[in-house]
Amino acid sequence: MSSIRSQLTVWYTVALLGTLLTFGIAASLVDRGARYDALDRRLTTEADRVARLMAQAEINGPDAVQELPSGAATLRPDLRSPLDLVADYLVVVDSAGRIVYGSAETSRWSAAASDSLRLQVFAVSASHQVLDLVLDGVPLRFVAAAVPSPRGVAPVLVAVAAGAPTRDIENAPQRILASMLLVSPIILVFAIGIGYLLSSRALQPLGRMMDELEAITDGRSLHRRLARASERGDEMDRLANALNAMLARLETSFSALRRFIADASHELKTPLAVMRVGVERSLTDPRTAPETIAALDETLQEVRRMTELVDTLLTLARVDEGRMELHTEPVELGTLLAEIHETAQILGEEAGLAVTADFASEPITIQADRARIRQLVLNLVSNAVKYTPAGGSLRLALTATAATATISVRDTGIGIAPGDVDRVFDRFWRADAARSRTGERPGFGLGLSICRWIAEAHGGSIAVTSRPGRGSTFTVTLPRSPAPDPVGAVESRAPTAEGG
Ligand SMILES: Nc1ncnc2c1ncn2[C@@H]1O[C@H](COP(=O)(O)OP(=O)(O)O)[C@@H](O)[C@H]1O
Ligand SMILES: [Mg+2]
Repeated sequence: MSSIRSQLTVWYTVALLGTLLTFGIAASLVDRGARYDALDRRLTTEADRVARLMAQAEINGPDAVQELPSGAATLRPDLRSPLDLVADYLVVVDSAGRIVYGSAETSRWSAAASDSLRLQVFAVSASHQVLDLVLDGVPLRFVAAAVPSPRGVAPVLVAVAAGAPTRDIENAPQRILASMLLVSPIILVFAIGIGYLLSSRALQPLGRMMDELEAITDGRSLHRRLARASERGDEMDRLANALNAMLARLETSFSALRRFIADASHELKTPLAVMRVGVERSLTDPRTAPETIAALDETLQEVRRMTELVDTLLTLARVDEGRMELHTEPVELGTLLAEIHETAQILGEEAGLAVTADFASEPITIQADRARIRQLVLNLVSNAVKYTPAGGSLRLALTATAATATISVRDTGIGIAPGDVDRVFDRFWRADAARSRTGERPGFGLGLSICRWIAEAHGGSIAVTSRPGRGSTFTVTLPRSPAPDPVGAVESRAPTAEGG
């Protein structure tokens, strides 16, 4: 999100700077053209005026120029004075191709420079001609004009040229660019600010949509739909529509999946019960041959495991569908745990574990589903027994504060690796997944996900602390006052179908 925003900002800034640069270059080119036009008009007017002046019959005669001893020639002084008033560069060339008048600046030119100008002005044939020259390294533009001559008279003054340096015009684009560079930091800050604001505005509906999507965390919230920011059929609207359609399809397949699991588990229950009764009956039948008994015993164990699995799957499917309800009643936890402690002692004795209990002396009564709480604690106890080698110990504890009751099951077993602690409550997750589901520690990895659902459905929580090789402690915290909305709690806190 923030990266798209910064990308848009960068692109906006680049586009704005590019536009400004292009505009600056175009403007300076146009400006340059206009300046040259104005210069040409001025020089043409001046050259024309001087040419017409020189063309007057009484001027353009043999005595217009005075020969100098050096072989050069110069315009008669009285003719020079009006020309001295011209602000631009000015030269007058006579019929011998000599510069007979040059304005003040021309006197500083080298011989080569005045020669090249002289020849080009002398050669002018059309009425006007623009000459772009570089004289002594200075770029100059001249407009040369032929002096009109009355018919039949050989004119002495043949051409004039008015000129001006063009360095200012040539440098103008650089000056514009330089001033643009000077203001570019301001433009940059401005562009980044505007770009950031614009992209934030454009991405705002996307951010909202992502928030809404993130709130759809599991199969249970798939019924939610994204709000449509606009009904205009713009991109965001299309995206919301597409996502909503996808959510609808997901919802359909999720509920089909849940239905399937629920139906399949339900259908398996009866045949399993029939099998179990049949096997049990055969086991107790005195006519059963002793060598068959071992096989039947094994079958019975497997059938029991299957029944347990099917029960668990049915429970989880109902939880996912939101059809699992708690049958709450006042439950005195001390009594309940004392019963569980007895069971734990029997289990512990078989496994060679010492089982101890440490319960608060005063009665702790909470509003809860007795069977579910028993299932929860028994799950934890059977895990503790399963994952603690013989010789270890197991401790059941019950404490309470004004607001909560806390049940903890501590063992000195194999423990859980730090990286796995967050995953033990996931569905089908088992640390020893590589081992068979039967073997010395049979299980499906569903027990703790049921435990979590039960704790959360009661408005409580379950947590584990563990040190590998040293043991684990599972702690269940339950609120002492009834949960405000048990059904809502069931709905919103159910474990996810993905086993999240
Ligand atoms: N008391 C415990 N000590 C060590 N590991 C445990 C304990 N309880 C649970 N675990 C780990 O968490 C996994 C998931 O437990 P659970 O959901 O009850 O599944 P299962 O008992 O069927 O393996 C177990 O496979 C085990 O790796
Ligand atoms: Mg278990």
